[in-house]
Amino acid sequence: MSALAPVVDTRQAARPSTYAGPSTPPSPYLELSVPVAVEHYRSLAAALPGTAVHYAVKANPEPALLRALHEAGSSFDVASPAEVLAALAAGAAPDELVYSNPVKRRSDIAFAARHGVRLFVVDSPEETVKVAAAAPGSAVLCRLVTSGEGSDWPLSRKYGCSTGEAVRILVAAAALGLEPAGVSFHVGSQQRDPEAWGPPIAAAARVFDELRAEGLRPWLLDLGGGFPARLADDGAAGCPPLAEYGAAIDRHLTRAFGPTGPDRPRTLVEPGRGIVAEAGLLHSRVLAVIDRGGTRWVFLDAGVFTGLVETIEEAIRYPVTTSRDRDGGPRVPCVLAGPTCDSADVLYEQAMVHLPADLAEGDWVRLESAGAYTSCYSTVGFNGFPPLPTLLRA
Ligand SMILES: Cc1ncc(COP(=O)(O)O)c(C=O)c1O
Repeated sequence: MSALAPVVDTRQAARPSTYAGPSTPPSPYLELSVPVAVEHYRSLAAALPGTAVHYAVKANPEPALLRALHEAGSSFDVASPAEVLAALAAGAAPDELVYSNPVKRRSDIAFAARHGVRLFVVDSPEETVKVAAAAPGSAVLCRLVTSGEGSDWPLSRKYGCSTGEAVRILVAAAALGLEPAGVSFHVGSQQRDPEAWGPPIAAAARVFDELRAEGLRPWLLDLGGGFPARLADDGAAGCPPLAEYGAAIDRHLTRAFGPTGPDRPRTLVEPGRGIVAEAGLLHSRVLAVIDRGGTRWVFLDAGVFTGLVETIEEAIRYPVTTSRDRDGGPRVPCVLAGPTCDSADVLYEQAMVHLPADLAEGDWVRLESAGAYTSCYSTVGFNGFPPLPTLLRA
């Protein structure tokens, strides 16, 4: 019997390719500034003193970015064997990684454990049993459900359990020989309200109290990601400054766990977008400007399938600039669409984008704050369009 050989390793193909910077850039491409991402890491760490920052590799796994963040002091949140390897290659210590995916392939848990990872997130009894078998003796965080309210990209419909379930899961984890380290949650990505951390921190404190009553010693609270980037519909004020997020989180921690002392858990965050989004500029060219029954459609060579997945339901609204902006001429509302034959490949239609009236084929259209969840979301080749390449800005 002959074994089937994979034609293509999509895990490799899907990874962003990095170009040294050709003289004529391809189109589309993501221009990524590693120093800007490091600056955002430093601002976030400063806003959350005493809280460890674990950059969420899923947001953008560019190796040069991971290396620079590691050198700046960041650890990592990983969700797959490929992300474990990427974090280790960047220099991270395996026992500092958080494996945050609450539902994992059994062999992936074992893979991570073999590489020295020892902190895993669960949100169900089934997964806890799996972790106990595949990574015996490791530590677990139980993920709580949140409302996702206030975020542009809610994350909790799929993951998270109630406080009562979390207590039962962590007590059972201890009985299975795991270390019940504590609780995690995620308030939703692009979270606009710093107060959103309040209810899950209070819920975590209830879980900690009940675990202590059972004789256990939880010690770690994972506050998730959610820190926002500057986007198009932020209004004049935009999202509150990072300092307000830090102050709100500290106030809620103090209220729930006390100001200092043994009851106050160690804390960590898993930011992705808040670190890397503003470090990325997605460059694309206009394929055509077409009038369809009085509505102007601008077709770009980048779309939903070349990294702009988060425009689904127009959830994430990237600020848009063009190579015609300097002309200062009139602007008209446009539907923005991508290049593939799929009619889902429309970026903004309900809320149209105001673009220069003289925008034409071949002009550049740039989407700002596009460093997160773009290059890694690009398909491996739908309609024959290659994955979005990354060019590092010097
Ligand atoms: C478990 C987990 N942690 C952290 C993040 C990063 O979130 P954000 O990019 O909103 O900071 C995500 C995003 O999907 C996530 O699922």
